[in-house]
Amino acid sequence: MHIEEITNKIHSMSLEEKVGQLNQAGLWDFELLCEEVRKGRVGSVILADSATAGNDEQQRVIIDQLNELQRIAVEESPVHIPLIFGRDVIHGYRTVLPVPLALAASFNPDAVEKAYRAVAREAANDGVHWTFSPMIDIARDPRWGRCIEGFGEDPYLTSKMGQAVIHGFQGEDNKKADSVAACAKHYLGYGAAEGGRDYNKAEISDYTLRNYYLKPFKAAVDAGTATVMNSFSEISGQPVASSRYLLHDILKDELGFKGFIISDWGSIEQLVYEGVAKDRKEAAALSANAELDMDMISKCYIDYMSKLVAEGKVSEEIIDKMVYRILYIKEKFGLLNNPYITHRQINYSEHFEITKQCADETVTLLKNEGILPLNTSKRIALIGPFLHEKRSLLGSWTLDADIDMVQSVAEAFADRVPDKDTLIFSQGDYLWDDILSELHNVDTVLVVLGESAKVTGENNCLANIELPQEQLELAKKMKRLGKKVIGVLCFGRPIALEKAEPYFDAILYAWHSGTYAAQSIADIVYGKVNPSGKLPMSFPRATGQIPIYYNYHAMPRNGMGYYGEGSNYLDCRSTPMYPFGYGMSYTKFAYSEARCEKAALT
Ligand code: NOJ
Repeated sequence: MHIEEITNKIHSMSLEEKVGQLNQAGLWDFELLCEEVRKGRVGSVILADSATAGNDEQQRVIIDQLNELQRIAVEESPVHIPLIFGRDVIHGYRTVLPVPLALAASFNPDAVEKAYRAVAREAANDGVHWTFSPMIDIARDPRWGRCIEGFGEDPYLTSKMGQAVIHGFQGEDNKKADSVAACAKHYLGYGAAEGGRDYNKAEISDYTLRNYYLKPFKAAVDAGTATVMNSFSEISGQPVASSRYLLHDILKDELGFKGFIISDWGSIEQLVYEGVAKDRKEAAALSANAELDMDMISKCYIDYMSKLVAEGKVSEEIIDKMVYRILYIKEKFGLLNNPYITHRQINYSEHFEITKQCADETVTLLKNEGILPLNTSKRIALIGPFLHEKRSLLGSWTLDADIDMVQSVAEAFADRVPDKDTLIFSQGDYLWDDILSELHNVDTVLVVLGESAKVTGENNCLANIELPQEQLELAKKMKRLGKKVIGVLCFGRPIALEKAEPYFDAILYAWHSGTYAAQSIADIVYGKVNPSGKLPMSFPRATGQIPIYYNYHAMPRNGMGYYGEGSNYLDCRSTPMYPFGYGMSYTKFAYSEARCEKAALT
């Protein structure tokens, strides 16, 4: 369908049919949904069972259900327009990549693009047309659980990574069956939630908005993102879901975004709880007049839009513009001509390779007192609460992951060491007394520590981001026994390591690095892979230093910068524990003859 045909199609539709296209429904009552689709009251279906899909178990995608819904939309609904199916495919499908924050540590957008091509292939094969990814919210607060879903504190790195994900998902030819429409989220300022509390309001000046938070969205628009999701945020007193200035004037007019905007889950209805709309009907009017195109789940549009148009509170012209954008994307991604699922053979071994490469490049070496890499013939003990863990290595938002593909760190080490007697594993979470005697015979202990994926992701924030006390005690105990201690730290977010750092001779920050996390850890420990991860977020010394990020504006007095040595705190050094970009390798590098391409920056 060409532009003209889409316009003609819209002119032939009744107001109710148009409003149906603006409605994204859930899948929990299949029979009811079929009925709604048959009546033309649904334009899209979200394949999620709950509001915080990244935290809860989700039903697998059932291809036959999707094809049946699609058949009803195409053959039985009054408009015959296919549905677009969306799912949160955030950092992998069956094969899982490191969490996005860890991926950013690779500083390798080419690998990320290739990896997301593989993710797109796996997801499209199950009928997913559209993903709610990438998250490109700038995050300066590691207490915020969702910092793991984005690419850290730097707008440039976030822009590059966001573009890589968009290109990876969407591919070169959007009409191909393995092309998945991307969604840049959460527009705007979500990462600035006060206190690192999810969903909290944000105060953002225009200066900060434009220089930091908006930049990755401009990059996403330039990369051709099909859709954008609004954030739950209230910025400086105005919820984004009702802001015509942010949604229409900046995103559509100024940045030239051509696709459509989807609300975050229920965020139109939430305008009522936020006190800007007196009821759901007014909420629908506010969001429509801001030109927020599609309503995820709250049903405000489908319930009230026709009445609002009849009462002159929303113009039909605006509705036409919103429908146009949705049909434009459905057409662009080949749905209008090829609505059903094309199942293909997938070459999984290719996916394993790129997924492993990503994990290799994300693990970040923070400290090494001449201890790593180890020789496989060296006798070591492996202990710690994450030694036998699998689920949390995958990280949050892994709805479709195949856990059977995941190895624990214990298994990966056992696979790599020919003489099994060189490895001593503790069985439970902590050191058992009965291996104390064996520890007697080793001088090096690998302590595998971490946080559960359940304390990361949506609505999972922490007030304290230091190494959990019992894990610190374990490292201390090893040190007290006179061992060389290698800390393998599997955390989704940055943590504050000042108190713990002295108890480790080496620190390998392994994040939640997906299906191949354990193999990458073992390969790096044994020197098969040279560590190359670089921190995408500054690591504070203590929680009280938050926010701490490298790209702050110059401060009025020399030497008072809170990133370099200064005198901001009396009870803590002002420098970060590890700065943005920090990460060691087994090689020494010398930089020389540095040149600046431009003498001045505007
Ligand atoms: C709410 C989350 O904020 C968003 O990121 C996600 O895509 C939607 N739920 C859909 O699950």
